Amino acid sequence: MKAIRVAETGGPEVLELSEVPDPTPGEGEALVRVERAGVNFIDVYHRTGLYRKDLPFTPGVEGAGVVEAVGAGVSRVSPGDRVAWPMTPGSYAELAAVPAWKLVRLPAGVRTEVGAALMVQGMTAHYLARSTYPLGPDDVALVHAAAGGTGLLLVQLAKRQGATVIGTCSTEEKAELARAAGADHVIRYTETPFQPEVMRLTQGRGATVVYDSVGKTTFRDSLESLRPRGMLVLFGQSSGKVDPFDPGVLASRGSLYLTRPSLANYTRDAEEVEWRGSELMERVEAGELGVRIHDVLPLDRAADAHRLLEGRKTSGKLLLRT
Ligand SMILES: NC(=O)c1ccc[n+]([C@@H]2O[C@H](COP(=O)([O-])OP(=O)(O)OC[C@H]3O[C@@H](n4cnc5c(N)ncnc54)[C@H](OP(=O)(O)O)[C@@H]3O)[C@@H](O)[C@H]2O)c1
Repeated sequence: MKAIRVAETGGPEVLELSEVPDPTPGEGEALVRVERAGVNFIDVYHRTGLYRKDLPFTPGVEGAGVVEAVGAGVSRVSPGDRVAWPMTPGSYAELAAVPAWKLVRLPAGVRTEVGAALMVQGMTAHYLARSTYPLGPDDVALVHAAAGGTGLLLVQLAKRQGATVIGTCSTEEKAELARAAGADHVIRYTETPFQPEVMRLTQGRGATVVYDSVGKTTFRDSLESLRPRGMLVLFGQSSGKVDPFDPGVLASRGSLYLTRPSLANYTRDAEEVEWRGSELMERVEAGELGVRIHDVLPLDRAADAHRLLEGRKTSGKLLLRT
């Protein structure tokens, strides 16, 4: 089969289309013909070596397609089923062997590319809004990169739970998308410092929660944007790793909470994957959750896909056609 391989870590150019042996499904696994592979920021961290992986490897942690065969002990899915999956290495490929417990069946009303788009960014938005900091009508949530893949979904889920949402993003086009997703206020943080603006919009009180996936450039001001006992949910580092900091700052800023969650800990078993996946699918089928597909590129343009994502040129989901 054809797959993207990374032989050494580096820039987007290390993503090379190669011919590799077809995978065989082991016990508890299903062999899936990948139709769409999702591109996520975590793929960039794997490619650059920020998150370590044994070399060589096939990047990509999510996708959607059709089950071709199942390994021993698999009864959850059968050949012919349309499925999608989160957090499984090796998805930038024509075929993937996926643990069956991670597979979410795609309902007839959900297109394959929408299914793929919901696996990492959708499930992340779901756990952030429902589990890490369950939002309610009394909350003011600051969502950074609100027009990104995760951001647009998180804004919609946060609004559904009744929170007031302040989004940040870089351009006016992105601001319009964040507003269309339901953000009550949008700050273009590349033009205007966001912390004083959050304070102004909240009459000096601050946000109850900040969802920060940008990291290095936003972390300090995110802490300063919280009201006492508020929570900073640092869930990514699109701008780079956060500098070390003194936990005493959490006390002096008002007994704040800081958490650094990861999707793997919020999709621990089949029940949790099923719960998050099926809720997202239901919302899409009911027309309550919009999934914006930024673009679909052929597999051999994986390097271009990474350039777009890292270059802040995407809003919504970027996919590869395998
Ligand atoms: N912990 C978890 O479980 C988990 C799961 C999924 C994703 N994540 C994290 O969430 C973040 C977003 O992931 P995503 O796939 O949805 O990507 P994305 O938000 O669609 O893309 C990243 C966005 O970050 C913003 N950004 C700000 N400074 C940047 C910089 N210096 N370089 C690049 N981008 C910058 C850009 O939006 P503006 O142009 O509007 O600033 C850019 O579009 C990533 O950090 C990812 O690792 C974490």
